[in-house]
Amino acid sequence: MRLLYTNLRRGALATLLLAASLPVARAIDPIGIPGIQAQKLAPYVTSPQPIVEKMLEVARLKSGETIYDLGCGDGRILFSAVKNFGAKAVGVEISPALAKRAQQTLESQGMQDQIKVIQADMMSVDVSGANVVSLYLMTDANEALRPKLERELKAGARVVSLEFKIKGWKAAREETVQVHNHPYKIYLYEVPKK
Ligand SMILES: C[S@@+](CC[C@H](N)C(=O)[O-])C[C@H]1O[C@@H](n2cnc3c(N)ncnc32)[C@H](O)[C@@H]1O
Repeated sequence: MRLLYTNLRRGALATLLLAASLPVARAIDPIGIPGIQAQKLAPYVTSPQPIVEKMLEVARLKSGETIYDLGCGDGRILFSAVKNFGAKAVGVEISPALAKRAQQTLESQGMQDQIKVIQADMMSVDVSGANVVSLYLMTDANEALRPKLERELKAGARVVSLEFKIKGWKAAREETVQVHNHPYKIYLYEVPKK
């Protein structure tokens, strides 16, 4: 039964990723700037909790630092960053329903001082305040995001990406973590001193 569930889950994920990869960056709704459309850069697929914690550990997230999760889904990375690492967290999520869910969870847990959820296209949000950026997007999305990260991130900031590399950057560390019979790849990038 567990094997069947795992296979179904992986099959569903593969189908989702394939479907989303066909017209990657399809315009879905306006972001309030005339002539500019928000782009859905990846489907909603959650990171398993052990992977969330491993990503934050690989990123060397420290107490007092700020992490931005670009495409934060239900906010699980934000909550772990605050509870387990003593960090502050900003989540950016294009889906109004997911952003609302993350906002409701943070309010129910009294985390308004540590977590901010922004319902927006990640391409329109300034990430210069990040010590760490976490991504679980897709290869093309990472490529689209790279110039923005290069412009805005400060020296010493880290970018941790689940499953998908950032083309044109050299990973400082790569980890493979097995969860639910799936080998998750975690890539760490460091912004060099300018
Ligand atoms: C694979 S999920 C990752 C969710 C969460 N970070 C996690 O690890 O569980 C990718 C998320 O990115 C969001 N997303 C896609 N395009 C976006 C965009 N342009 N701006 C903000 N969020 C976006 C999706 O709605 C989805 O929730």
